[in-house]
Amino acid sequence: MPLSIRLILKESSMDTPTKTYFIKTYGCQMNVYDSERIKDTLSEIGYAETDRMEKADLILLNTCHIREKAAEKVYSELGRVKQAKNARKRQGKDTLVTVAGCVAQAEGREIMRRAPVVDVVIGPQSYHRLPALLHTARHKNCQVLDTEFPAEDKFQHLPHGSRPVSSTAFVTVQEGCDKFCTFCVVPYTRGNEFSRPVAEIATEVRSLTDRGVKEVTLLGQNVNAYHGEGPDGRDWSLARLIDHLSDIEQLARIRYTTSHPRDMTPDLIAAHRDNPKLMPYLHLPFQAGADRILAAMNRKHTSKDYLEIIDKIRTARPDIALSTDIIVGFPGETEAEFNATLDVVREVNFAQAYSFKYSPRPGTPAATLDEQVPEPVKTERLNRLQSLLRAQQQTFNKATIGRTLPVLLEKPGRREGQLVGRSPYLQAVHLEASPQQLGQIVEVKITAATANSLTGQLQINPN
Ligand code: SAH
Ligand code: SF4
Ligand code: F3S
Repeated sequence: MPLSIRLILKESSMDTPTKTYFIKTYGCQMNVYDSERIKDTLSEIGYAETDRMEKADLILLNTCHIREKAAEKVYSELGRVKQAKNARKRQGKDTLVTVAGCVAQAEGREIMRRAPVVDVVIGPQSYHRLPALLHTARHKNCQVLDTEFPAEDKFQHLPHGSRPVSSTAFVTVQEGCDKFCTFCVVPYTRGNEFSRPVAEIATEVRSLTDRGVKEVTLLGQNVNAYHGEGPDGRDWSLARLIDHLSDIEQLARIRYTTSHPRDMTPDLIAAHRDNPKLMPYLHLPFQAGADRILAAMNRKHTSKDYLEIIDKIRTARPDIALSTDIIVGFPGETEAEFNATLDVVREVNFAQAYSFKYSPRPGTPAATLDEQVPEPVKTERLNRLQSLLRAQQQTFNKATIGRTLPVLLEKPGRREGQLVGRSPYLQAVHLEASPQQLGQIVEVKITAATANSLTGQLQINPN
């Protein structure tokens, strides 16, 4: 496919020898992963990271388009970016501004029109071309847009750096989506479903464990639809990939997200029973409880299907922590249909959940449906739903008080002498421990719990 970089002339010159970048990431874990790859790319071409926008020669926003609020954040941030760029200009310094991610993909031209401060607009499939686009913007004195879906695999061209990493990491194994839920922009911003080959993923995970990573979360918009090429030339399932990766000795924990109920296959459910490295946590969005709404969403599962999967997974792994995504106020949702959502929540008992008011997204089928639910009704339903979910989360967390759990120590806490780690159930655990223990899995007796986190005492010192 030919490179289609469109150039639009701009007046000012921006030749600058200095090289620092500031990056801000919005949206899902896939954007967090992409930002890490962008950092690796920039460090290869001589950029160093700064946490101060005003100091940066390159300001990059990695954006999210999932709901209107997420997309609007970008434009307000671009207001601040413009101020920073102008202030730098007064000091004789040039600044390149890049908008990446899903807003870039969905509204590239609109961004350049609304925000002339932007020099480069780059969609998620083109990150391996970032150096070339920056070069063009800098030397040809123009705005540059690349939102094609190139034929080449960006993963093969993106570096996996040698920068230090923490004890946990994300690894994108699957990207894009072919499911076209009627509310969702992802199939348009991330393109067709694509799975990376097993060998490529294993190499990346080994490079992470060599740098001290103990836990990886395998990412995909539909991660359990993973069907990448295995070393034997056949398509491997996610369960098979997980089993393969669990042979890496230094890798202690494996997670995956986000899954779709339709792809919750028996081998993946069995892996939760059989593979001790696979953590007892599953994020499985159900979106709505009423079958009429699920059909209008094009989810292709009923609430009964969902509850049956939950039964199977609980039979395989009784202590599993369940998480979900829920939308309230999808067009036409009645009070009775909303109550069906509450019923599913009561039936499942979630350990945690994300819930949202339906947000009409341009270009998606649901946005043009009549019967949009009024904003105050959505707000009231969301409040009711969230108080139920909060109570369930608190109950789940409180049930761990008195138990001793293995906790992977991830980062320093807010207080001096405190570290924060994660339980197998993905709960944040605060405890007193030495910074030298970061990256270790330690036994912690849980002494207190809130809806958001646990507190505990270190039981044995592995040193
Ligand atoms: N692939 C995942 C979801 C990815 S998007 C899945 O199939 O479940 C993350 C979540 O954002 C979705 O699960 C959904 O709950 C929410 N979401 C997506 N589009 C939305 C919209 N238009 N309005 C409100 N919430 C939305
Ligand atoms: Fe969006 Fe549906 Fe695809 Fe999930 S499965 S990314 S909600 S279209
Ligand atoms: Fe947002 Fe794109 Fe992720 S729209 S949720 S950043 S896939």
